[in-house]
Amino acid sequence: MDLDIVMKRLDLHTYSIQFDGVQTALSKLLKETAYSSLFVLVDENTREHCLSLIKDTLPDNTKIIDIQSGEIHKTLDTCKIIWEALLNGGADRQSLLINLGGGVIGDMGGFCASTFMRGIRFVQIPTTLLSQVDASVGSKLGVDFQQVKNIIGLFQDPIAVLIDPTFLKTLPSAELRSGYAEVIKHALIYDAELWAQLQSIDQVATVGKWDALIYRSVQIKQEIVEQDRKEKSLRKILNFGHTIGHAIESYFLTTDTPLLHGEAIAWGMYAECILSQQLLGLSDQDVQSAHRYLEKIYADKKPVKWDTDALLKYMRQDKKNVNQKISFSLLDRLGHGVPDQFVEEEMLVSLFEGF
Ligand SMILES: NC(=O)c1ccc[n+]([C@@H]2O[C@H](COP(=O)([O-])OP(=O)(O)OC[C@H]3O[C@@H](n4cnc5c(N)ncnc54)[C@H](O)[C@@H]3O)[C@@H](O)[C@H]2O)c1
Ligand SMILES: [Zn+2]
Repeated sequence: MDLDIVMKRLDLHTYSIQFDGVQTALSKLLKETAYSSLFVLVDENTREHCLSLIKDTLPDNTKIIDIQSGEIHKTLDTCKIIWEALLNGGADRQSLLINLGGGVIGDMGGFCASTFMRGIRFVQIPTTLLSQVDASVGSKLGVDFQQVKNIIGLFQDPIAVLIDPTFLKTLPSAELRSGYAEVIKHALIYDAELWAQLQSIDQVATVGKWDALIYRSVQIKQEIVEQDRKEKSLRKILNFGHTIGHAIESYFLTTDTPLLHGEAIAWGMYAECILSQQLLGLSDQDVQSAHRYLEKIYADKKPVKWDTDALLKYMRQDKKNVNQKISFSLLDRLGHGVPDQFVEEEMLVSLFEGF
């Protein structure tokens, strides 16, 4: 992959992911169809930092729907605010909802659009690295319910996803680095060449040009999703690092040093490389290479102590487990993920104790 090549779009069956510069892409899209009304969903951060990038392309009577940022607001209560704004704003079946924000806005806005009047059209404009390379691809939409993440939702395609790295300029560096964990994951599970290229990045904050990295990362996720839309098997490799990573994330949420999603996933990948060696023979050299890189990028967030019982408790709740064995997607080499690996708890106890 030549980092200087700027790719323009990925055409899928029913929609396209465009990398054209958000203003160009959006104004073209709005000219193609006569929508009866436009709505833009923002939170306080994307209203402040992102709205100005698309404002000139929007008609004057566009309505802005404001919600509060953060995962704690990814709830049915917030959906009620969004549905009310659509209803009171006169939305009909020919209206369009533009979701301008990170994964929370995209998942929840897409869910609200897909359920309002049995479904109105929506566009995803992801503004965080995580949402650009991960959440906006794969058409999973939803909200959290009774503390369970993403438990209410559906699969539904947007009419387009418009990706523009310009948005990342205002993203806090911790969020940028958190999203980068998913880029690392995509390389580790699917693309040894991308993995080799990432080695030249020592610090996420200093990456000047994201275009090609985002494009390749989206392409990888899209390719995996396309082969297995309903998560029967291959798609599960996207969970690499996430079985342990989610448990780490949940555990540290209960402490006064919570981790961002990608920070937890980085250490999940670190631990799951060890499991990959034990179960699939991932070579010493590969484990060390992955460990060195994850330590370089996320050293300051390495968990120093944790409670093994608490981690196991979180992992037991995973809906992919079978017969009390914990389900993993692991690596047999760097660049190749393998789904459906089931692990006994005893093996995990010794892994955590020796971490
Ligand atoms: N649908 C999927 O397949 C999928 C995949 C992965 C994650 N997700 C979901 O994505 C969510 C996490 O997404 P996220 O990491 O983007 O978090 P987020 O949406 O909470 O955004 C992180 C923070 O950055 C702010 N922000 C967004 N864009 C900004 C910008 N350009 N400049 C400044 N600030 C900005 C937001 O207001 C927020 O405070 C989770 O709810 C997760 O479940 C979904
Ligand atoms: Zn993730």
